[in-house]
This record gives sequence, structure tokens and C-alpha cells, in this order.
Amino acid sequence: MARLDLTARPRRNRKSAAIRDAVRETWLGPEHFIYPLFIHEGGDDIPITSMPGRSRLSPDGLLREAERAVALDLRALVLFPAIDESLKSADGREAHNDEGLIPRTIRALKQRWPELLVITDVALDPYSSDGHDGIVAADGRILNDATVEVLVEQALCHARAGADIISPSDMMDGRVGAIREALDDASFTEVSILAYTAKYASAYYGPFREALDSAPKHGDKKTYQMDPANVREALREVELDEDEGADMVMVKPAGPYLDVIRAVREATPLPLAAYQVSGEYAMLKAACERGWLDERKAVLESLIAIRRAGADVILSYFAPEAATWLREGRPW
Ligand code: PBG
Repeated sequence: MARLDLTARPRRNRKSAAIRDAVRETWLGPEHFIYPLFIHEGGDDIPITSMPGRSRLSPDGLLREAERAVALDLRALVLFPAIDESLKSADGREAHNDEGLIPRTIRALKQRWPELLVITDVALDPYSSDGHDGIVAADGRILNDATVEVLVEQALCHARAGADIISPSDMMDGRVGAIREALDDASFTEVSILAYTAKYASAYYGPFREALDSAPKHGDKKTYQMDPANVREALREVELDEDEGADMVMVKPAGPYLDVIRAVREATPLPLAAYQVSGEYAMLKAACERGWLDERKAVLESLIAIRRAGADVILSYFAPEAATWLREGRPW
């Protein structure tokens, strides 16, 4: 039997900032963040109650926020639209209107900042009168293949407007392959796909749905989003998305699913993104506003934990704050 080694002193590697900095295994920088932004047609920025500090941005507000992000060295944004009720329909056709809010916004961003990575979400929920990511049949089922046809149109519409990365968040089967094929057929071979590969049916999306007014009108998303109790199933989704041509995969939410991030990291050579979702933002904000947590320390710790688990990039509403704090002094 091995004897207990009483001379082992792991604290020697922690004795000074210089040593700790030298032996650190993971770090964080603005290049690791993708900043999600909510946009709408209105003339004013409208604060989101359950996400203090974040708003639905007007077209001008978006340009101002993008300017701030670029100045902080953030290089990637992902856009989420709040669509007027009058434009929502059962088939979500506004999702592929070339003059819609998203294509117009992509063009405005790329015109001003050609180098900025503009990422778009592909799913029908902001455009669906049912509040679902797919098309709903009369009996309430979410139709897979009919939905994929619309998602393909939506992806092409974003590519035509100049999106760099298309990000399907709908969890329909086969959509990554169908989108890849359609993009290639239309000569958009350089447009990337960041697949929401392991997206769970999570309660932590609550504030997001308030932000976009996009909660399902009936039922829930459990027939397409994954069961929070499963991890092997995530690996099956990874295999499929890889085969179908995804350039990057994603796990979502992030903080409560660090084990899934680790499992996916070990299963694929593809770059891995993790989404610190609206509910994770809201929880941290709520505790920090009450003075129960130190915001800077708790938020940066939540982000380094996601990187340590194996994520390359993190979608986070804290991106500008984190980039600011990391400039002021890097704990990681
Ligand atoms: C929609 C979508 C959702 C999120 C990203 N894209 C909500 C949902 O699936 O219900 C959640 C993001 C967040 O909570 O921050 N397809």
C-alpha cells in the first residue's frame, strides 16, 4: 500500500502571484466572448426587468452598444430580435424576409465594422404566433421536416445579408445538414455553422423569453430540446452535428451543465461554445444587487469555470463587463 506522503506541499505552487500566474491552466480574454444582443424596431431602448443592465435595443441603441463592444475588443455579436406581434404567423415567414429586422441589422453592422463577427440565431420562436421554435400542427406536435424547410430559408436570408456565422438553436433533427447543403448550393461556402448541439429544455431561459416576448403560447419545448437528466444523448447530438457539417458545437445552458461541456469537449475536436444563458445572468445579478456576492469576482469565476470545463468560447450577457474588468487587472 502506498504510504501517505507527508512531504507533499502543493501550496508551494500557490505561494505568490508570480507562481500562480505561471502555473495557471486556463485564462480568459475578450477573444473568448460572444456578446448576445436583443434588438427591436422601436425608437427607444427598453430595459429588460429580469436582466438588469440589459435592454431591447433600438437600431441606434444597437450601433451604440456595438461601438462600446468593439472598443472593449469584443469581436463577435449574436443577434436576437423582438418581433412585432402583427408580423408573427403560424409558419414564421417573417424569419426569411430580406427586409426584416435581422437582415437590415446585419447589413448595418457589417457596413460599419466589416471585421466584426456577426452571428445570427436560426429558429422560429421570435416569429411564431405559437412561440415555438418550429411549426405547430393542429394536434400540437412540432413538425420537424416542414420546420427545417423554413429554417433553411431563414439561414439563406441571413447569409444574403452578410452574416458570418449561422447558429441554429431550434433543435430540429437534420437541420445542420440541410442548412449546410443549401448554403453551399447558393455558394455561401464561407458562412459557418455554430450548432446548438446540446440545448436543454431549461427553466433558465425564462428572462430571455420575457426579453423577446417569445414564450410558448401552449405546451413546452420538451419534444425538441434535451432532457436535463441526460448526458450520453448530448454525445449522440455531437456526432450527428459533426457529420452534418457543423463548424462549431454548443452546450446550453453553461453553468449548471459543466459536466456536459466536459463530455462534449472530450468527444469532438471541433471548437466548443457554451451559452451562459439569461437565467444564469439574472441569478448572478440578483445576488450581486443585494450585495450577497461580489459581482466582479463571482462573474469572472463563473466564466473561468466554463472555460475550465472545456469551452473555447462563451456566449455571455456579461461580455462587456467582463472585458472591462479583465482590462483593469486579470485575475485569470
Ligand atoms: C430560441 C432561443 C432561446 C435562447 C436562445 N435562442 C430560448 C428558447 O429556446 O426557449 C435562450 C437564451 C437565453 O436564455 O439567454 N430558440
